[in-house]
Amino acid sequence: MKRLLVLAAAAATLFSAFSASAQTFPGSKPISFVVPFAAGGPTDRVARDLAEAMRKSMGGSANFVVENVNGAGGTIGANKVAKASPDGHTLLLHHIGMAAAPGLYRKLQYKPLEDFEFLGMINEVPMTLIGKPQLEANTYRDLENYIRVNAGKLNIAHAGLGSASHLCGLMWQSAINAKEAMTTIPFGGTAPAMNALVGGQVDMMCDQTTNTTGQIEAGRVKAYAVTTSKPLKNNKVLKDLPTLQEMGLKGFDLTIWHGLYAPKGTPPAVLAQINDALKKALKDPDFIKKQEGLGAVVVTDKRVEPAAHKAFVTAEINKLKPVIEAGGKFAD
Ligand code: MLT
Repeated sequence: MKRLLVLAAAAATLFSAFSASAQTFPGSKPISFVVPFAAGGPTDRVARDLAEAMRKSMGGSANFVVENVNGAGGTIGANKVAKASPDGHTLLLHHIGMAAAPGLYRKLQYKPLEDFEFLGMINEVPMTLIGKPQLEANTYRDLENYIRVNAGKLNIAHAGLGSASHLCGLMWQSAINAKEAMTTIPFGGTAPAMNALVGGQVDMMCDQTTNTTGQIEAGRVKAYAVTTSKPLKNNKVLKDLPTLQEMGLKGFDLTIWHGLYAPKGTPPAVLAQINDALKKALKDPDFIKKQEGLGAVVVTDKRVEPAAHKAFVTAEINKLKPVIEAGGKFAD
């Protein structure tokens, strides 16, 4: 009986501590957005714009910091959050890599569907196929000829195995049946990869419009096509770029999506507060304007809700895993 009373007292203290922390969230401790890619890249850009919008939607009561933890196609940063304290102060902002990792990494140190709380989706971003300024190809048809003549001599940059740029490069190369695979060159994110492309150290890359629009507009890279099923007519910079489908790659359709995650076990009251702030931020005209200016579409459907977000990621994992396994190339 005495032991039971002690246990009950301990449970009560623990519960009150938890609900106290939930009631006082966010408190003075900043909320960290862990971005699993290098600073300055497309995912970092979404995180910084969203942090600003959520700071506003939480009435200035929360400070946000962006922490770039890159490597291994985004799995190092994701693992850090999977293992973080479930108090709502360490969140993961990640993209389609969340769904690609289970297929590519057979020894993945976390389980996307079990080790995280889903907080809602953020945006969807088309990708663009681009080349270094010196590449002797100005249109997609030129590029096809160039690849035929220079088979095996070209290289393509990406942000690590399982990253969006890696997935896109893989899908494009298998769609064009490149006689000889291109050498793939990994970076910690597409920000450093873009610097190497603009500088002519690498030949090609497939990257998110949020990172390429500015470079294309400035003429610092050559642009060949977009990966969406429809041309991006609303984007003044990308409107004249053909789709890969229009170039003959039947059914080619790739759009990158970003979502927000917390460690498993984060108190439901804290999750509700963050999801509420996220949904308000997604309606913020400044945030929407910034995203749309870079070709991204802010999510407005039921996937802003945790359950629908998780259902979507589950479907993406089930879609990508067989494709990756069929490819037979694994990261470990
Ligand atoms: C980045 O932010 O660097 C990208 O999202 C990386 C990628 O997945 O291609």
